[in-house]
Amino acid sequence: MIKFLRLSCLVIPVTGALLAAAACSGPNPSSSESAPSDTDGASIGLSLDLASGVTIDSATYTITGPGGFTRSATIDLSTSTALSVVIGGIPAGTGYSISVATTSTDGLVSCAGSASFNVTAHTTTAVTVHLSCHEAPRTGSVQVNGGANVCPVIDSAGASPAEALVGTGVHLSGAAHDADSGPSALKYAWTATSGVFDSASAQNPLFTCTAPGTVNITLTVTDGDPSPTCSDNLSVIVTCDPPPPQPYSWVVLGSGGAAIARVVTPDASCPSITVDGVSQAMNVRVAAGTVPVRTSSATPVKPSAFPVTTCELTLPSGASRATVLGHDLPLPKANPQKIVIIGDTGCRLKTGNPWQACSDTTQWPFQKIADAAAAMHPDLVLHVGDYHYRENACPPDQTGCQGSPWSYGFDAWEADLFRPAESLMEAAPWIMVRGNHEECLRAGQGWFRFLDTRPYAEDHSCNSPANDDLANYNDPYAVPVGGDTQVIVFDTSKAGATPLNPLNATDAPIFNRYQAELKQAGDLASNPNVFSIFANHHPLLAYTPVAGGNPTGGISSLLSVMSTTYPNTYFPPNIGLAMHGHVHDFQAVDYSTNNPPAFVAGMGGDNLDPVLPDPFPLSVSPAAGVVPDMVAHDNVFGFMTMERTGSTWVYKAYRLDGSVMTSCTLSAADKLSCTNTGYLH
Ligand SMILES: [Fe+2]
Repeated sequence: MIKFLRLSCLVIPVTGALLAAAACSGPNPSSSESAPSDTDGASIGLSLDLASGVTIDSATYTITGPGGFTRSATIDLSTSTALSVVIGGIPAGTGYSISVATTSTDGLVSCAGSASFNVTAHTTTAVTVHLSCHEAPRTGSVQVNGGANVCPVIDSAGASPAEALVGTGVHLSGAAHDADSGPSALKYAWTATSGVFDSASAQNPLFTCTAPGTVNITLTVTDGDPSPTCSDNLSVIVTCDPPPPQPYSWVVLGSGGAAIARVVTPDASCPSITVDGVSQAMNVRVAAGTVPVRTSSATPVKPSAFPVTTCELTLPSGASRATVLGHDLPLPKANPQKIVIIGDTGCRLKTGNPWQACSDTTQWPFQKIADAAAAMHPDLVLHVGDYHYRENACPPDQTGCQGSPWSYGFDAWEADLFRPAESLMEAAPWIMVRGNHEECLRAGQGWFRFLDTRPYAEDHSCNSPANDDLANYNDPYAVPVGGDTQVIVFDTSKAGATPLNPLNATDAPIFNRYQAELKQAGDLASNPNVFSIFANHHPLLAYTPVAGGNPTGGISSLLSVMSTTYPNTYFPPNIGLAMHGHVHDFQAVDYSTNNPPAFVAGMGGDNLDPVLPDPFPLSVSPAAGVVPDMVAHDNVFGFMTMERTGSTWVYKAYRLDGSVMTSCTLSAADKLSCTNTGYLH
């Protein structure tokens, strides 16, 4: 085997020593010959100096000469490191030629050459053969056909006016050009961090502010070029201002079903109200003012600003019409047929919690829920607590809540409750249960200004910590629903997560207060002919989901008081049903033990809680001695209704899209049965 040093061949003059060596150890040609030979001792010496990079195993040669001489042979080079051969027995004469050919072992290089020589008798003639070597082609080529497109350029993106009130419009204008007018006509697309467009693909759409704050509106123009880098973008900033404080009016039902007309107004004085044709001034419940914030959970804190006057008037029983601010107030019906139940409705802005996109009605759908519930024309609304959720400022990197009001003043209350719930507050009187978000260290100041049904007083304002023991614990009251049903409203806003020990000096006052309130609830429910619904914020014998694990039961502090006061039943006698919120899901729970069935309706708009286990582990008791035998649940946005059908109530859980999750009824033996149970997905 011989390796070429380069792709050319040299002939080295043949020496006697080389020829001798070559004759003894050189390649061993095999030959064929024609024509007469003259063995007159004449020969040629052929020697090639070969290079690395190409390997050959053999070479062939053909000698032709005078008199028709022809000799061909193949030289075996497989064991050789150099080509050196003497070819003898060639008749003396002139006009010989030799041609040599070889191919590398990998077949990629072919070499060939020839030379002329004469042969002299008894002499070895050196012959030079130049080989021309050619590599086989290794590469091909491609033909690239290119095309060019000139990308579009936005010339301007404008907004007029650049500042607008929430709910009002801004005219947007876009202008762009495309130098080569292709490949397609220009397309315009507008996006915004909040707000809505009448047509986001129009060149000049109308934009409407939906939430206060700075809105980044971006115009993108494309010319049909599929390259994502070919489009052009330009942004314009629009400032959406909160609408000026506006009056809101509603009716809240207090103790004994007293219908209390309420108005909040930016005016310093209260409007007049006309009841059955008689006009009178509403009373100032609390004047506008700014009070020091009570909590340090919001950082930075700011004072609670209430630039509105809260007005009220308790309507006479049996009033048939009440008009304020130019429209009729919803008055209580003598025998309500349909009650909407909602809970946990605000938009969560709190450090340490996921930030809810308050400007996105998909992610915070309370207004949709309120509108859907209002469209059902309820006679009564029961809110099971937690109205206010906007405690901390929306961080700069959270686009979904930019510009939201925060902390505990009126602006946050307006955004979380009064504005989104306007249609539902116009539809029916409300029963308002207090949630833990409305305890004094949180939104308690607004609770007493706006929603609580008792007279406003300094010791029931949450303004001073000295009065928290009074303001955070309030006596229950009953709201009749026709002659056969009532809702007992129970304040658990400050209830803690650990059991209360009546022998502990710190726990004892709270234990005793809750025990007294429970007994009052028992007194309110003393008539066995009235179906009594116990409505409080925290689940008691219902469940709290634990992500990835078994759920836990209700609020431990209350349960410790209840189990002591009413062993086994936990509730006073004659309580037929319990209604809660706080856990952000829907639950219907019944028991084989003697406990009133429970509903949870905490899916009214705030971020939902993790789903309860599926299948639900009925072996998990919500409280000692309580054995569940039916659970229906789902963690989707929606609301509940209870509607009279014949002599009983039908309880339905609705999803936001109007579909019914389950429909439940109570038997005469107080057994809850639902059309769908378990996980209602
Ligand atoms: Fe809550």
